[in-house]
Amino acid sequence: MKFFVDTAEVQEIRELAATGLVDGVTTNPSLIAKSGRKMAEVIAEICAITPGPVSAEVTATDYAGMLAEGRYLRDIAKNVAVKVPLTEAGLHTCRTLANEKTQVNVTLCFSANQALLAAKAGAAYVSPFVGRLDDIGQDGMAVIADIVQIYRNYPHLKTEVLVASIRHPMHLLTSAKLGAQVATLPPAVIRQLFKHPLTDRGLDAFLADWKKTGQSIL
Ligand code: G3P
Repeated sequence: MKFFVDTAEVQEIRELAATGLVDGVTTNPSLIAKSGRKMAEVIAEICAITPGPVSAEVTATDYAGMLAEGRYLRDIAKNVAVKVPLTEAGLHTCRTLANEKTQVNVTLCFSANQALLAAKAGAAYVSPFVGRLDDIGQDGMAVIADIVQIYRNYPHLKTEVLVASIRHPMHLLTSAKLGAQVATLPPAVIRQLFKHPLTDRGLDAFLADWKKTGQSIL
């Protein structure tokens, strides 16, 4: 499973990328706004930190505008994945950009039918927002299960399921058990994955026993 970091905060990306556990980055207009930086500048900096795909989202809503913005964004760096919303114009843009060999991440997906359309449009990734579905009392992980099942029925479809809007480690665990190829994780959730009380307790016990030996390795 590939782990993308879901943030536009460069320092967070640097720190997590240094662990070697990061395979890409996703941003969106809200995350760019939160960074307080110019979009082209921060996307270029992120693309230089990680060789993996870095999602940069268009903000136009019409086909012509999305296509122009997508062509501009892909020229920022070779590892830019252009993000388009799952609308009719967005899927039309996806199809055109995919035909031009541009990686497209179709975002704001909330149903398996939408994900099927994204795959037909040649998306490299589809981003179902599980947390936002859960937020309104729907079952986000059930949508992931449906998408994975549908995609498996049609091996010629090359779109990868990029689980987004992840709120906690259980979203990741279930996504991995279902076979989603990618999860994009807020930095805080990634850091939760490292932690287990028995690991902390076991390490403390190892170090306490080691201290009694009076030895040092170096
Ligand atoms: O990548 C999409 C993600 O940033 C949306 O997450 O928490 O705003 O639903 P959230």
